[in-house]
Amino acid sequence: MKKVLVATEKPFAKAAVDQIEKIVKEAGYEFALLEKYTDKAQLLDAVKDAHAMIVRSDKVTREVIEAAPELKIVVRAGAGYDNLDLEACTEKGIVAMNTPGQNSNAVAELVLGMMVFMARNSYNGSAGVELRGKMLGIHAYGNVGHYVAEIAKGFGMEIYAFDPFVADEVITAAGITPVKSVEELYKTCQYISLHIPANDKTKKSINYDLLNLMPKGAVLVNTARKEVINEEEILKVMADRPDFKYISDIAPDCKAEFETKFEGRFLFTPKKMGAQTAEANINAGVAGANQIHGFFANGDETFRVNK
Ligand code: 3PG
Repeated sequence: MKKVLVATEKPFAKAAVDQIEKIVKEAGYEFALLEKYTDKAQLLDAVKDAHAMIVRSDKVTREVIEAAPELKIVVRAGAGYDNLDLEACTEKGIVAMNTPGQNSNAVAELVLGMMVFMARNSYNGSAGVELRGKMLGIHAYGNVGHYVAEIAKGFGMEIYAFDPFVADEVITAAGITPVKSVEELYKTCQYISLHIPANDKTKKSINYDLLNLMPKGAVLVNTARKEVINEEEILKVMADRPDFKYISDIAPDCKAEFETKFEGRFLFTPKKMGAQTAEANINAGVAGANQIHGFFANGDETFRVNK
């Protein structure tokens, strides 16, 4: 019998786990669960007889792949798959997939939630500012960017987007103004919401020169990956510009420096929280389980991300 392992250091909501288990068992597979593990050894042990696995931001490294001789498919329940060693998967003939779009609304709600929290000075009793009429730049108009724009319209924000992979007509049809360059986006918008993936091209790409283009009262919102930020350079922007604020879903490596120098001008979640809702967990987890069944039953490789 094939074994499907759900390995999530940051657990899914119980309702999601229950639904995944039901799908897996009804399809005739064995179900195994490893949650809140604290040591890599636990993951290495859990994968040793797994034929399929569902993970979140869990690191599926070459070591993990090599500890899983039966593994045929790994599904990242979520969008970003920078945590999967795709090369190792391909070498071992393992199919790697993600579940695009399934947790996007949850991330988008967090973006606007954190923006309001920051605009109102963390609800500390002092007078804040409003979002209405402010310019919001969506840096990469994918699934999350789409939802962010939809919600931001309700706040009365003016929305711009930069995405070289999306046609201007698609962006315009959504009531958003497309811009021609990333520089133009940052120059125009007081708020920037980042939705680029983390890869060799984008890592550390959000740097001093780009951030310094932003108008007065700038707020950078990062629910993408901390790795896309050039941390040394954002510290310099924070130091040079007392008007600049940084919101990030998961703290940067240089968090201690923010704490000592920039009190009140940053907001960091303790763990990546964007996709941490019952709905997103159910959507992504169930999609993952169905994709595994589709792959084993029919060879369906939709959403495959490795070659
Ligand atoms: C994603 O890429 O889908 C999000 O960053 C969610 O990550 P998580 O599953 O670790 O919450």
